[in-house]
Amino acid sequence: MDAPTPQTEPMPTITYGPPIAMLAEVTHRCPLSCPYCSNPLELTKRDGELSTEIWVDVFRQAAELGVLQMHLSGGEPASRRDLEDMITACRDHDLYSNLITSGIGLTEKRMVELKKRGLDHVQLSLQGVDAEMADLIGGYKGGYSRKMQVAEWTTALDLPLTLNAVVHEKNIDRLPEMIDLAVAMGARRLEVATVQFHGWADKNRAALMPTREQAKLCGQRVAEARERLKGVLVIDYVPADHHADYPKPCMGGWGSTGLNVVPDGRVMPCHAAHTIPHLVFDNVKDRPLADIWEHSSAFNAYRGFDWMPEPCRSCDRKTRDFGGCRCQAMALTGDAAATDPVCIKSPMHAQLQAMAQADAEGDGELTYRTMPT
Ligand code: SF4
Ligand code: FES
Repeated sequence: MDAPTPQTEPMPTITYGPPIAMLAEVTHRCPLSCPYCSNPLELTKRDGELSTEIWVDVFRQAAELGVLQMHLSGGEPASRRDLEDMITACRDHDLYSNLITSGIGLTEKRMVELKKRGLDHVQLSLQGVDAEMADLIGGYKGGYSRKMQVAEWTTALDLPLTLNAVVHEKNIDRLPEMIDLAVAMGARRLEVATVQFHGWADKNRAALMPTREQAKLCGQRVAEARERLKGVLVIDYVPADHHADYPKPCMGGWGSTGLNVVPDGRVMPCHAAHTIPHLVFDNVKDRPLADIWEHSSAFNAYRGFDWMPEPCRSCDRKTRDFGGCRCQAMALTGDAAATDPVCIKSPMHAQLQAMAQADAEGDGELTYRTMPT
């Protein structure tokens, strides 16, 4: 009698509905020059940005597609004089609007107007816990005091405030002060995000990579503060990838929960997707947003599980982390379909950890972001 034919496990099917959130990168222009900027090396100039009319129509299309939250980002979105009209469009289409800002370019009058137009939430970046550190990291003198003013205006207008702190070798040890500052500023939420080396940030690996010990202590401090500040401050945490054993579920899985529209109108599955050279990104100027979400080659490139190589293909964590981050796999292995080297099962894991350690021990100078006009 023949031996029974081995049955291969059927791959779980991916079901994806509409995106929950859209990141509208309305401009690349920005007054700050943060060395950890994850925007591309090649930035879109002002004359290449989508017009107000197109953005307004994109917001309508996003709402029809099912998007609930609109994150307005950049660059510095306040650099766009038509920011108020964009907020109006979000309100007109029942989109929850979140302004992701450094605070530069906002005045009290402008904040009052944005609130009147329907702004729902403000997310303010925090480069440091005092003017000396914040202005050094942001490369903008006076930035810290402006930021404090914007936080005051935000809470006085009863708008919910989230602070976003990118932590790295130069500021990670001051996390306890950041947490105290967030409470003192009246923030409801603090995002502690360890630097990710996409875009410009990759030039600053040796200057910004925290050590394994710093990363571990940061995780412990977040856990302790979460417990202590229950009901006062919610803390979100993005741990240091390079010192971890398993990758993060980047974007909650490729093309499953969110989409990004960049300043010139191209639509991408994530913030760093432009670093994957073989992907072709459709533009809202040429194709409806819903059609791009459902049918474009870029969105379908890494949806589901069929594209996965081993060890992800037969790994039971794949429904939790979706194989990690495609852009990180691209940057570190040259193959966007490879297992994210952050994973302990990746053949490149040991090499990645050695590289991270070498970067952490290095003492590179900060290379500041340069901006288009
Ligand atoms: Fe995640 Fe792939 Fe590693 Fe499994 S092998 S834990 S799916 S990255
Ligand atoms: Fe692109 Fe993670 S940043 S998939």
